[in-house]
Amino acid sequence: MTDVLPAGSLAGKVALVTGSSRGIGADTVRYFAEAGADVVINFRNKAPRAEKLASQLRELGVRALVVGADLTDPASVASMFEQVEQEFGRLDILVLNASGGMESGMAEDYALTLNRDAQLNVLSAARPVLGEGSRVVFVTSHQAHFIRTTPTMPEYEPVALSKRAGEDALREHIPSLAEQGIGFTVVSGDMIEGTITATLLERANPGAISARREDAGRLYNVSEFAAEVAQAAVDPVPADNTRLVGDTGGFAAE
Ligand SMILES: NC(=O)c1ccc[n+]([C@@H]2O[C@H](COP(=O)([O-])OP(=O)(O)OC[C@H]3O[C@@H](n4cnc5c(N)ncnc54)[C@H](OP(=O)(O)O)[C@@H]3O)[C@@H](O)[C@H]2O)c1
Repeated sequence: MTDVLPAGSLAGKVALVTGSSRGIGADTVRYFAEAGADVVINFRNKAPRAEKLASQLRELGVRALVVGADLTDPASVASMFEQVEQEFGRLDILVLNASGGMESGMAEDYALTLNRDAQLNVLSAARPVLGEGSRVVFVTSHQAHFIRTTPTMPEYEPVALSKRAGEDALREHIPSLAEQGIGFTVVSGDMIEGTITATLLERANPGAISARREDAGRLYNVSEFAAEVAQAAVDPVPADNTRLVGDTGGFAAE
């Protein structure tokens, strides 16, 4: 993996990435550990993957706490931050990466429950451990960020609407976060090559991903997008609290 954040640049810091047993979250948490941060790996189902990642990261000389927590369950979120408090006493970086809503067999409002309500609850449960100078990053897709002006594939629409609702609800907290010296950045990216979401959407709309790749010129892969997410947690907060990754052609600004 490329050296995104300089080695040692996050020594003494503590970073938690939700949904970090796999995919973009796992690569993001790895970048933080490679930069010397102690990390919290959160998973819902993939305990063995989370433990395996934690062992690899400990070999870098950092501490890695693994916490199973379904973010839609407030009790398990509360318990996660109790464990963070006990183990590290504080949090310097919180990345709200976990997402979902295309799983089968879930309640009709599950996407909103996870992508809006749970995100707000995680932020509020994290506030006591987030100190002056800490950072919160919310990860989203262009298809969600621009959903109010640019339609998306029907299969993804409920997820896109719920993620945008989550983004809007989190943004309402920017002034109070700023008052406490906590920076907030939204990172939005196009479809990412090789992800389960992209695979599911391609299956439902054969050719959709290659068409998007052609329009955009190229699509980021998981590790490239994770590098942007990790970088967003240390770069100055953009004036509009938004970091758009890759091409935004075809998406209309509001
Ligand atoms: N995929 C794309 O093309 C794309 C493009 C742009 C932006 N993004 C954004 O990047 C982020 C990560 O995407 P991804 O494709 O890596 O997602 P993913 O492969 O679907 O992974 C989602 C992660 O969230 C966790 N998760 C799901 N439901 C959860 C819950 N109720 N409680 C706790 N954790 C839960 C999963 O944990 P388990 O594995 O343990 O279930 C998994 O680690 C998302 O915010 C997404 O919107 C993705």
